[in-house]
Amino acid sequence: MKEKSRVKIAAGILWGFYPPPLKLRRTRKRKFMTKILKIVQEKDPILRKKAEPVKNPGSPEVKELVANMIATMMEIKGVGLAAPQVGVSYRIFTTNIENKILVFINPEIKDFSNEVISFEEGCLSVQKVWGPVIRPKKLIIKALNENGKPVKIRARGLLARVVQHEMDHLNGTLFIDKAEKLFTIEENKGKEIKI
Ligand code: NI
Repeated sequence: MKEKSRVKIAAGILWGFYPPPLKLRRTRKRKFMTKILKIVQEKDPILRKKAEPVKNPGSPEVKELVANMIATMMEIKGVGLAAPQVGVSYRIFTTNIENKILVFINPEIKDFSNEVISFEEGCLSVQKVWGPVIRPKKLIIKALNENGKPVKIRARGLLARVVQHEMDHLNGTLFIDKAEKLFTIEENKGKEIKI
């Protein structure tokens, strides 16, 4: 999928946009083209590290990283993506649930519900394995959004699930550490969600 999109972009540059008209060239100086990032896999030690807080949430570098994470998450049809999964040890994650994209920078979970629920999880960084994980049903999370502004979100359902999976990524934990049991793709074809 990654290859295909690169080819498409290259073809666009060759036939559609090259040489870029002046107006486009000017925009490019201020903005940037999003990139599809490589997803690091299970054995990579970055997935086991506690990620660092972001010191400059509004900076162009962070905005570019967030834009690339969103592009990557959408390209690979993930419902969530944490910065360590693209090789950056920062406390950032993005979610994409029912076509709503949210960005969480320096997130902190403020409250969990007592009620828990078991749900099957998979991970973009752990290939071909899924398993049920028990987690609180609801939570309240505080974070900075893509503009560096503080937000407070009450999450339930799939969002609460994804937020907790991504928070774990920021703390060096994978769902395979918490799953009640693990099974392979063949047993669970088509049902899995990738976070
Ligand atoms: Ni994951």
